[in-house]
Amino acid sequence: MEENNIYPIFSKMQSRSDKERFLGQKGLTLWFTGLSGSGKSTVAVALEQALSGEGIFCRIIDGDNVRCGLNSGLGFSPQDRKENIRRVAEVCRLFTQTGIVTLATFISPTRELREMAREIIGADDFMEIFISTPLEECEKRDVKGLYAKARRGEISEFTGISAPFEAPVSPDMSIDTSRLGVEECVERILDAVIPKVKI
Ligand code: ADX
Repeated sequence: MEENNIYPIFSKMQSRSDKERFLGQKGLTLWFTGLSGSGKSTVAVALEQALSGEGIFCRIIDGDNVRCGLNSGLGFSPQDRKENIRRVAEVCRLFTQTGIVTLATFISPTRELREMAREIIGADDFMEIFISTPLEECEKRDVKGLYAKARRGEISEFTGISAPFEAPVSPDMSIDTSRLGVEECVERILDAVIPKVKI
């Protein structure tokens, strides 16, 4: 990067393994994808408690939160969603390389977007969890009232209604919160995650 007058100091900083030894765990990103209202954030919040109970240091990075800060100013056009996911994937990479178990909850509606996130974070550090709750159930719940607004035409490009959602082809896990309770969802994810992050 010398030609841009940029001089990264990566080689002088403590390494990932220094950080992981310090924390006594390995970093990993759990990438939750699914429709709005599918239960991504609810499962992540319960999982955060469960992981903490196991002595695992973790952090949730959530779409609605990030869109109030780092990504305020980004909307829901395909380009803005791409920039949203690019930036948060870079954040997940930083957290993961610091040894933190990172729970990312973003609709991330297309395979292309999730592939980009996987590439940025690194395939070995990326676990894709599809919250597969069907659209009918998400719309029935309509916790935020957004589906009703989208149906009335008050929100454009709303995922599942007027913008696409492509289901993952081969996610690491697939969980339908209309069939499983939150505790059971958490148990299943914990069983898969604990062996990957405990040293
Ligand atoms: S993503 O598509 O770019 O990954 P992200 O997860 O950050 O989306 O944000 C989704 C949240 O934004 C939804 O849960 C909902 O609360 C809100 N939202 C507002 N407008 C839209 C829209 N047009 N489509 C989807 N979600 C929207």
